[in-house]
Formats: sequence, C-alpha cells, structure tokens
Amino acid sequence: MRILEIIETRIEIREFEKKSVDVEVKKEILEAGRLAPSGRNLQHWHYVLIEGEKELDILSKLSPTGRWIRDSNFAIVIVTDPKYDFNELDAGRAITQMQLVGWESGVGSRLYTIKKPDQDKAKLEFNIPGEYHITAVVGFGYPLNRVAGKKERKDMKEIASYNQFGIPIDL
Ligand SMILES: Cc1cc2nc3c(=O)[nH]c(=O)nc-3n(C[C@H](O)[C@H](O)[C@H](O)COP(=O)(O)O)c2cc1C
Repeated sequence: MRILEIIETRIEIREFEKKSVDVEVKKEILEAGRLAPSGRNLQHWHYVLIEGEKELDILSKLSPTGRWIRDSNFAIVIVTDPKYDFNELDAGRAITQMQLVGWESGVGSRLYTIKKPDQDKAKLEFNIPGEYHITAVVGFGYPLNRVAGKKERKDMKEIASYNQFGIPIDL
C-alpha cells in the first residue's frame, strides 16, 4: 500500500478481535515511534507497552472516553517531558507513525488522553515519574469488523487556502 492509501483506509476503531498481534509487528510499531522526528531532536518521549487483561482494565478506567481499550490487544502509553512546549506536537508525530505502521500490517488503533486527576493515578499504576506527562494512550489490535475506511472529513476548500488565508485553492 502507498502511504496515502494507508492514510485513506485507516479509521480509528473501538472494537478489536481477540487475536494477538505478532511480536514483530509490535516491534515495528515501537520502531516507528523511536524514529519519529522531534523538536531539536530531543526525543524526550518514553513508550510503555502495556499488555495483559488486568493492565488493560486499569487503563480503561483512567478515562471515560477510553473504556474500549479493555478490548484492545495491547496499548502504548506515550509519555513526554512537558518542560518542552512542543512535547505534544512531538508525541502526535510519533503516534501517527506508529498507527500508520500498525495499519500497514492490518493492526487498527485508537487513542485517548488522560485528564488531570487521573494522570497521577496512571503514573502510580505504571511507575511513570511524576515530572512526565502522559500525552496519550494508544490501543492496538486487529479490527473486529471489516474496516470500510469511510472518513468524515471537511472538504479541501474549507481547510486549505492558496497564498493567503481564505483564497480558494484549486489544484
Ligand atoms: C488528540 C486526540 C484525542 C482523542 N481522544 C479520544 C478519546 O478520548 N476517546 C476516543 O474514543 N477517541 C479519541 N480520539 C480519536 C478521535 O475521535 C478520532 O481520531 C477521530 O474521530 C477521527 O477518526 P477516524 O480517523 O476514524 O475518522 C482522539 C484523537 C485525537 C487526535
């Protein structure tokens, strides 16, 4: 698949098949995160791979919008250093690379974020040092249903301009 095709067909899923993801694919997903670009190449991130029913259940209780992670095959907790004001941008780039590499092997994913009081709880649960920030939690696994790749997105003319903001683009 071309990269654009991977982007076009990937949608974020909440329902996962009860099937283990091959360790080689997990390694590739982590490698995609390791190789991500970061501001000043600081690579201030840390990725905690989480597996196991008990652990995924703990993750599912850390966000009201992340209950679905219980059914994923594994999760990666994306930890960054908030003293860099671009930390979330860096994390976003790493997450995107991981998700695209996963989808290349048919592994679907979705992410959620953890709000303030639960941040501290999550850090305690997974031994994450207090000075770090859990930017997101990404759940991975094979989709339960066939993924049709239908995206709800704004039209190009609504989100892009030519030379000046608001000048319609016509490429
Ligand atoms: C910063 C960010 C936070 C998100 N938080 C949640 C969340 O808390 N729970 C959830 O189920 N999905 C979450 N998502 C997934 C989005 O809802 C999803 O990316 C969006 O609906 C587009 O999905 P699609 O690519 O399948 O069309 C989040 C995505 C991003 C980028």
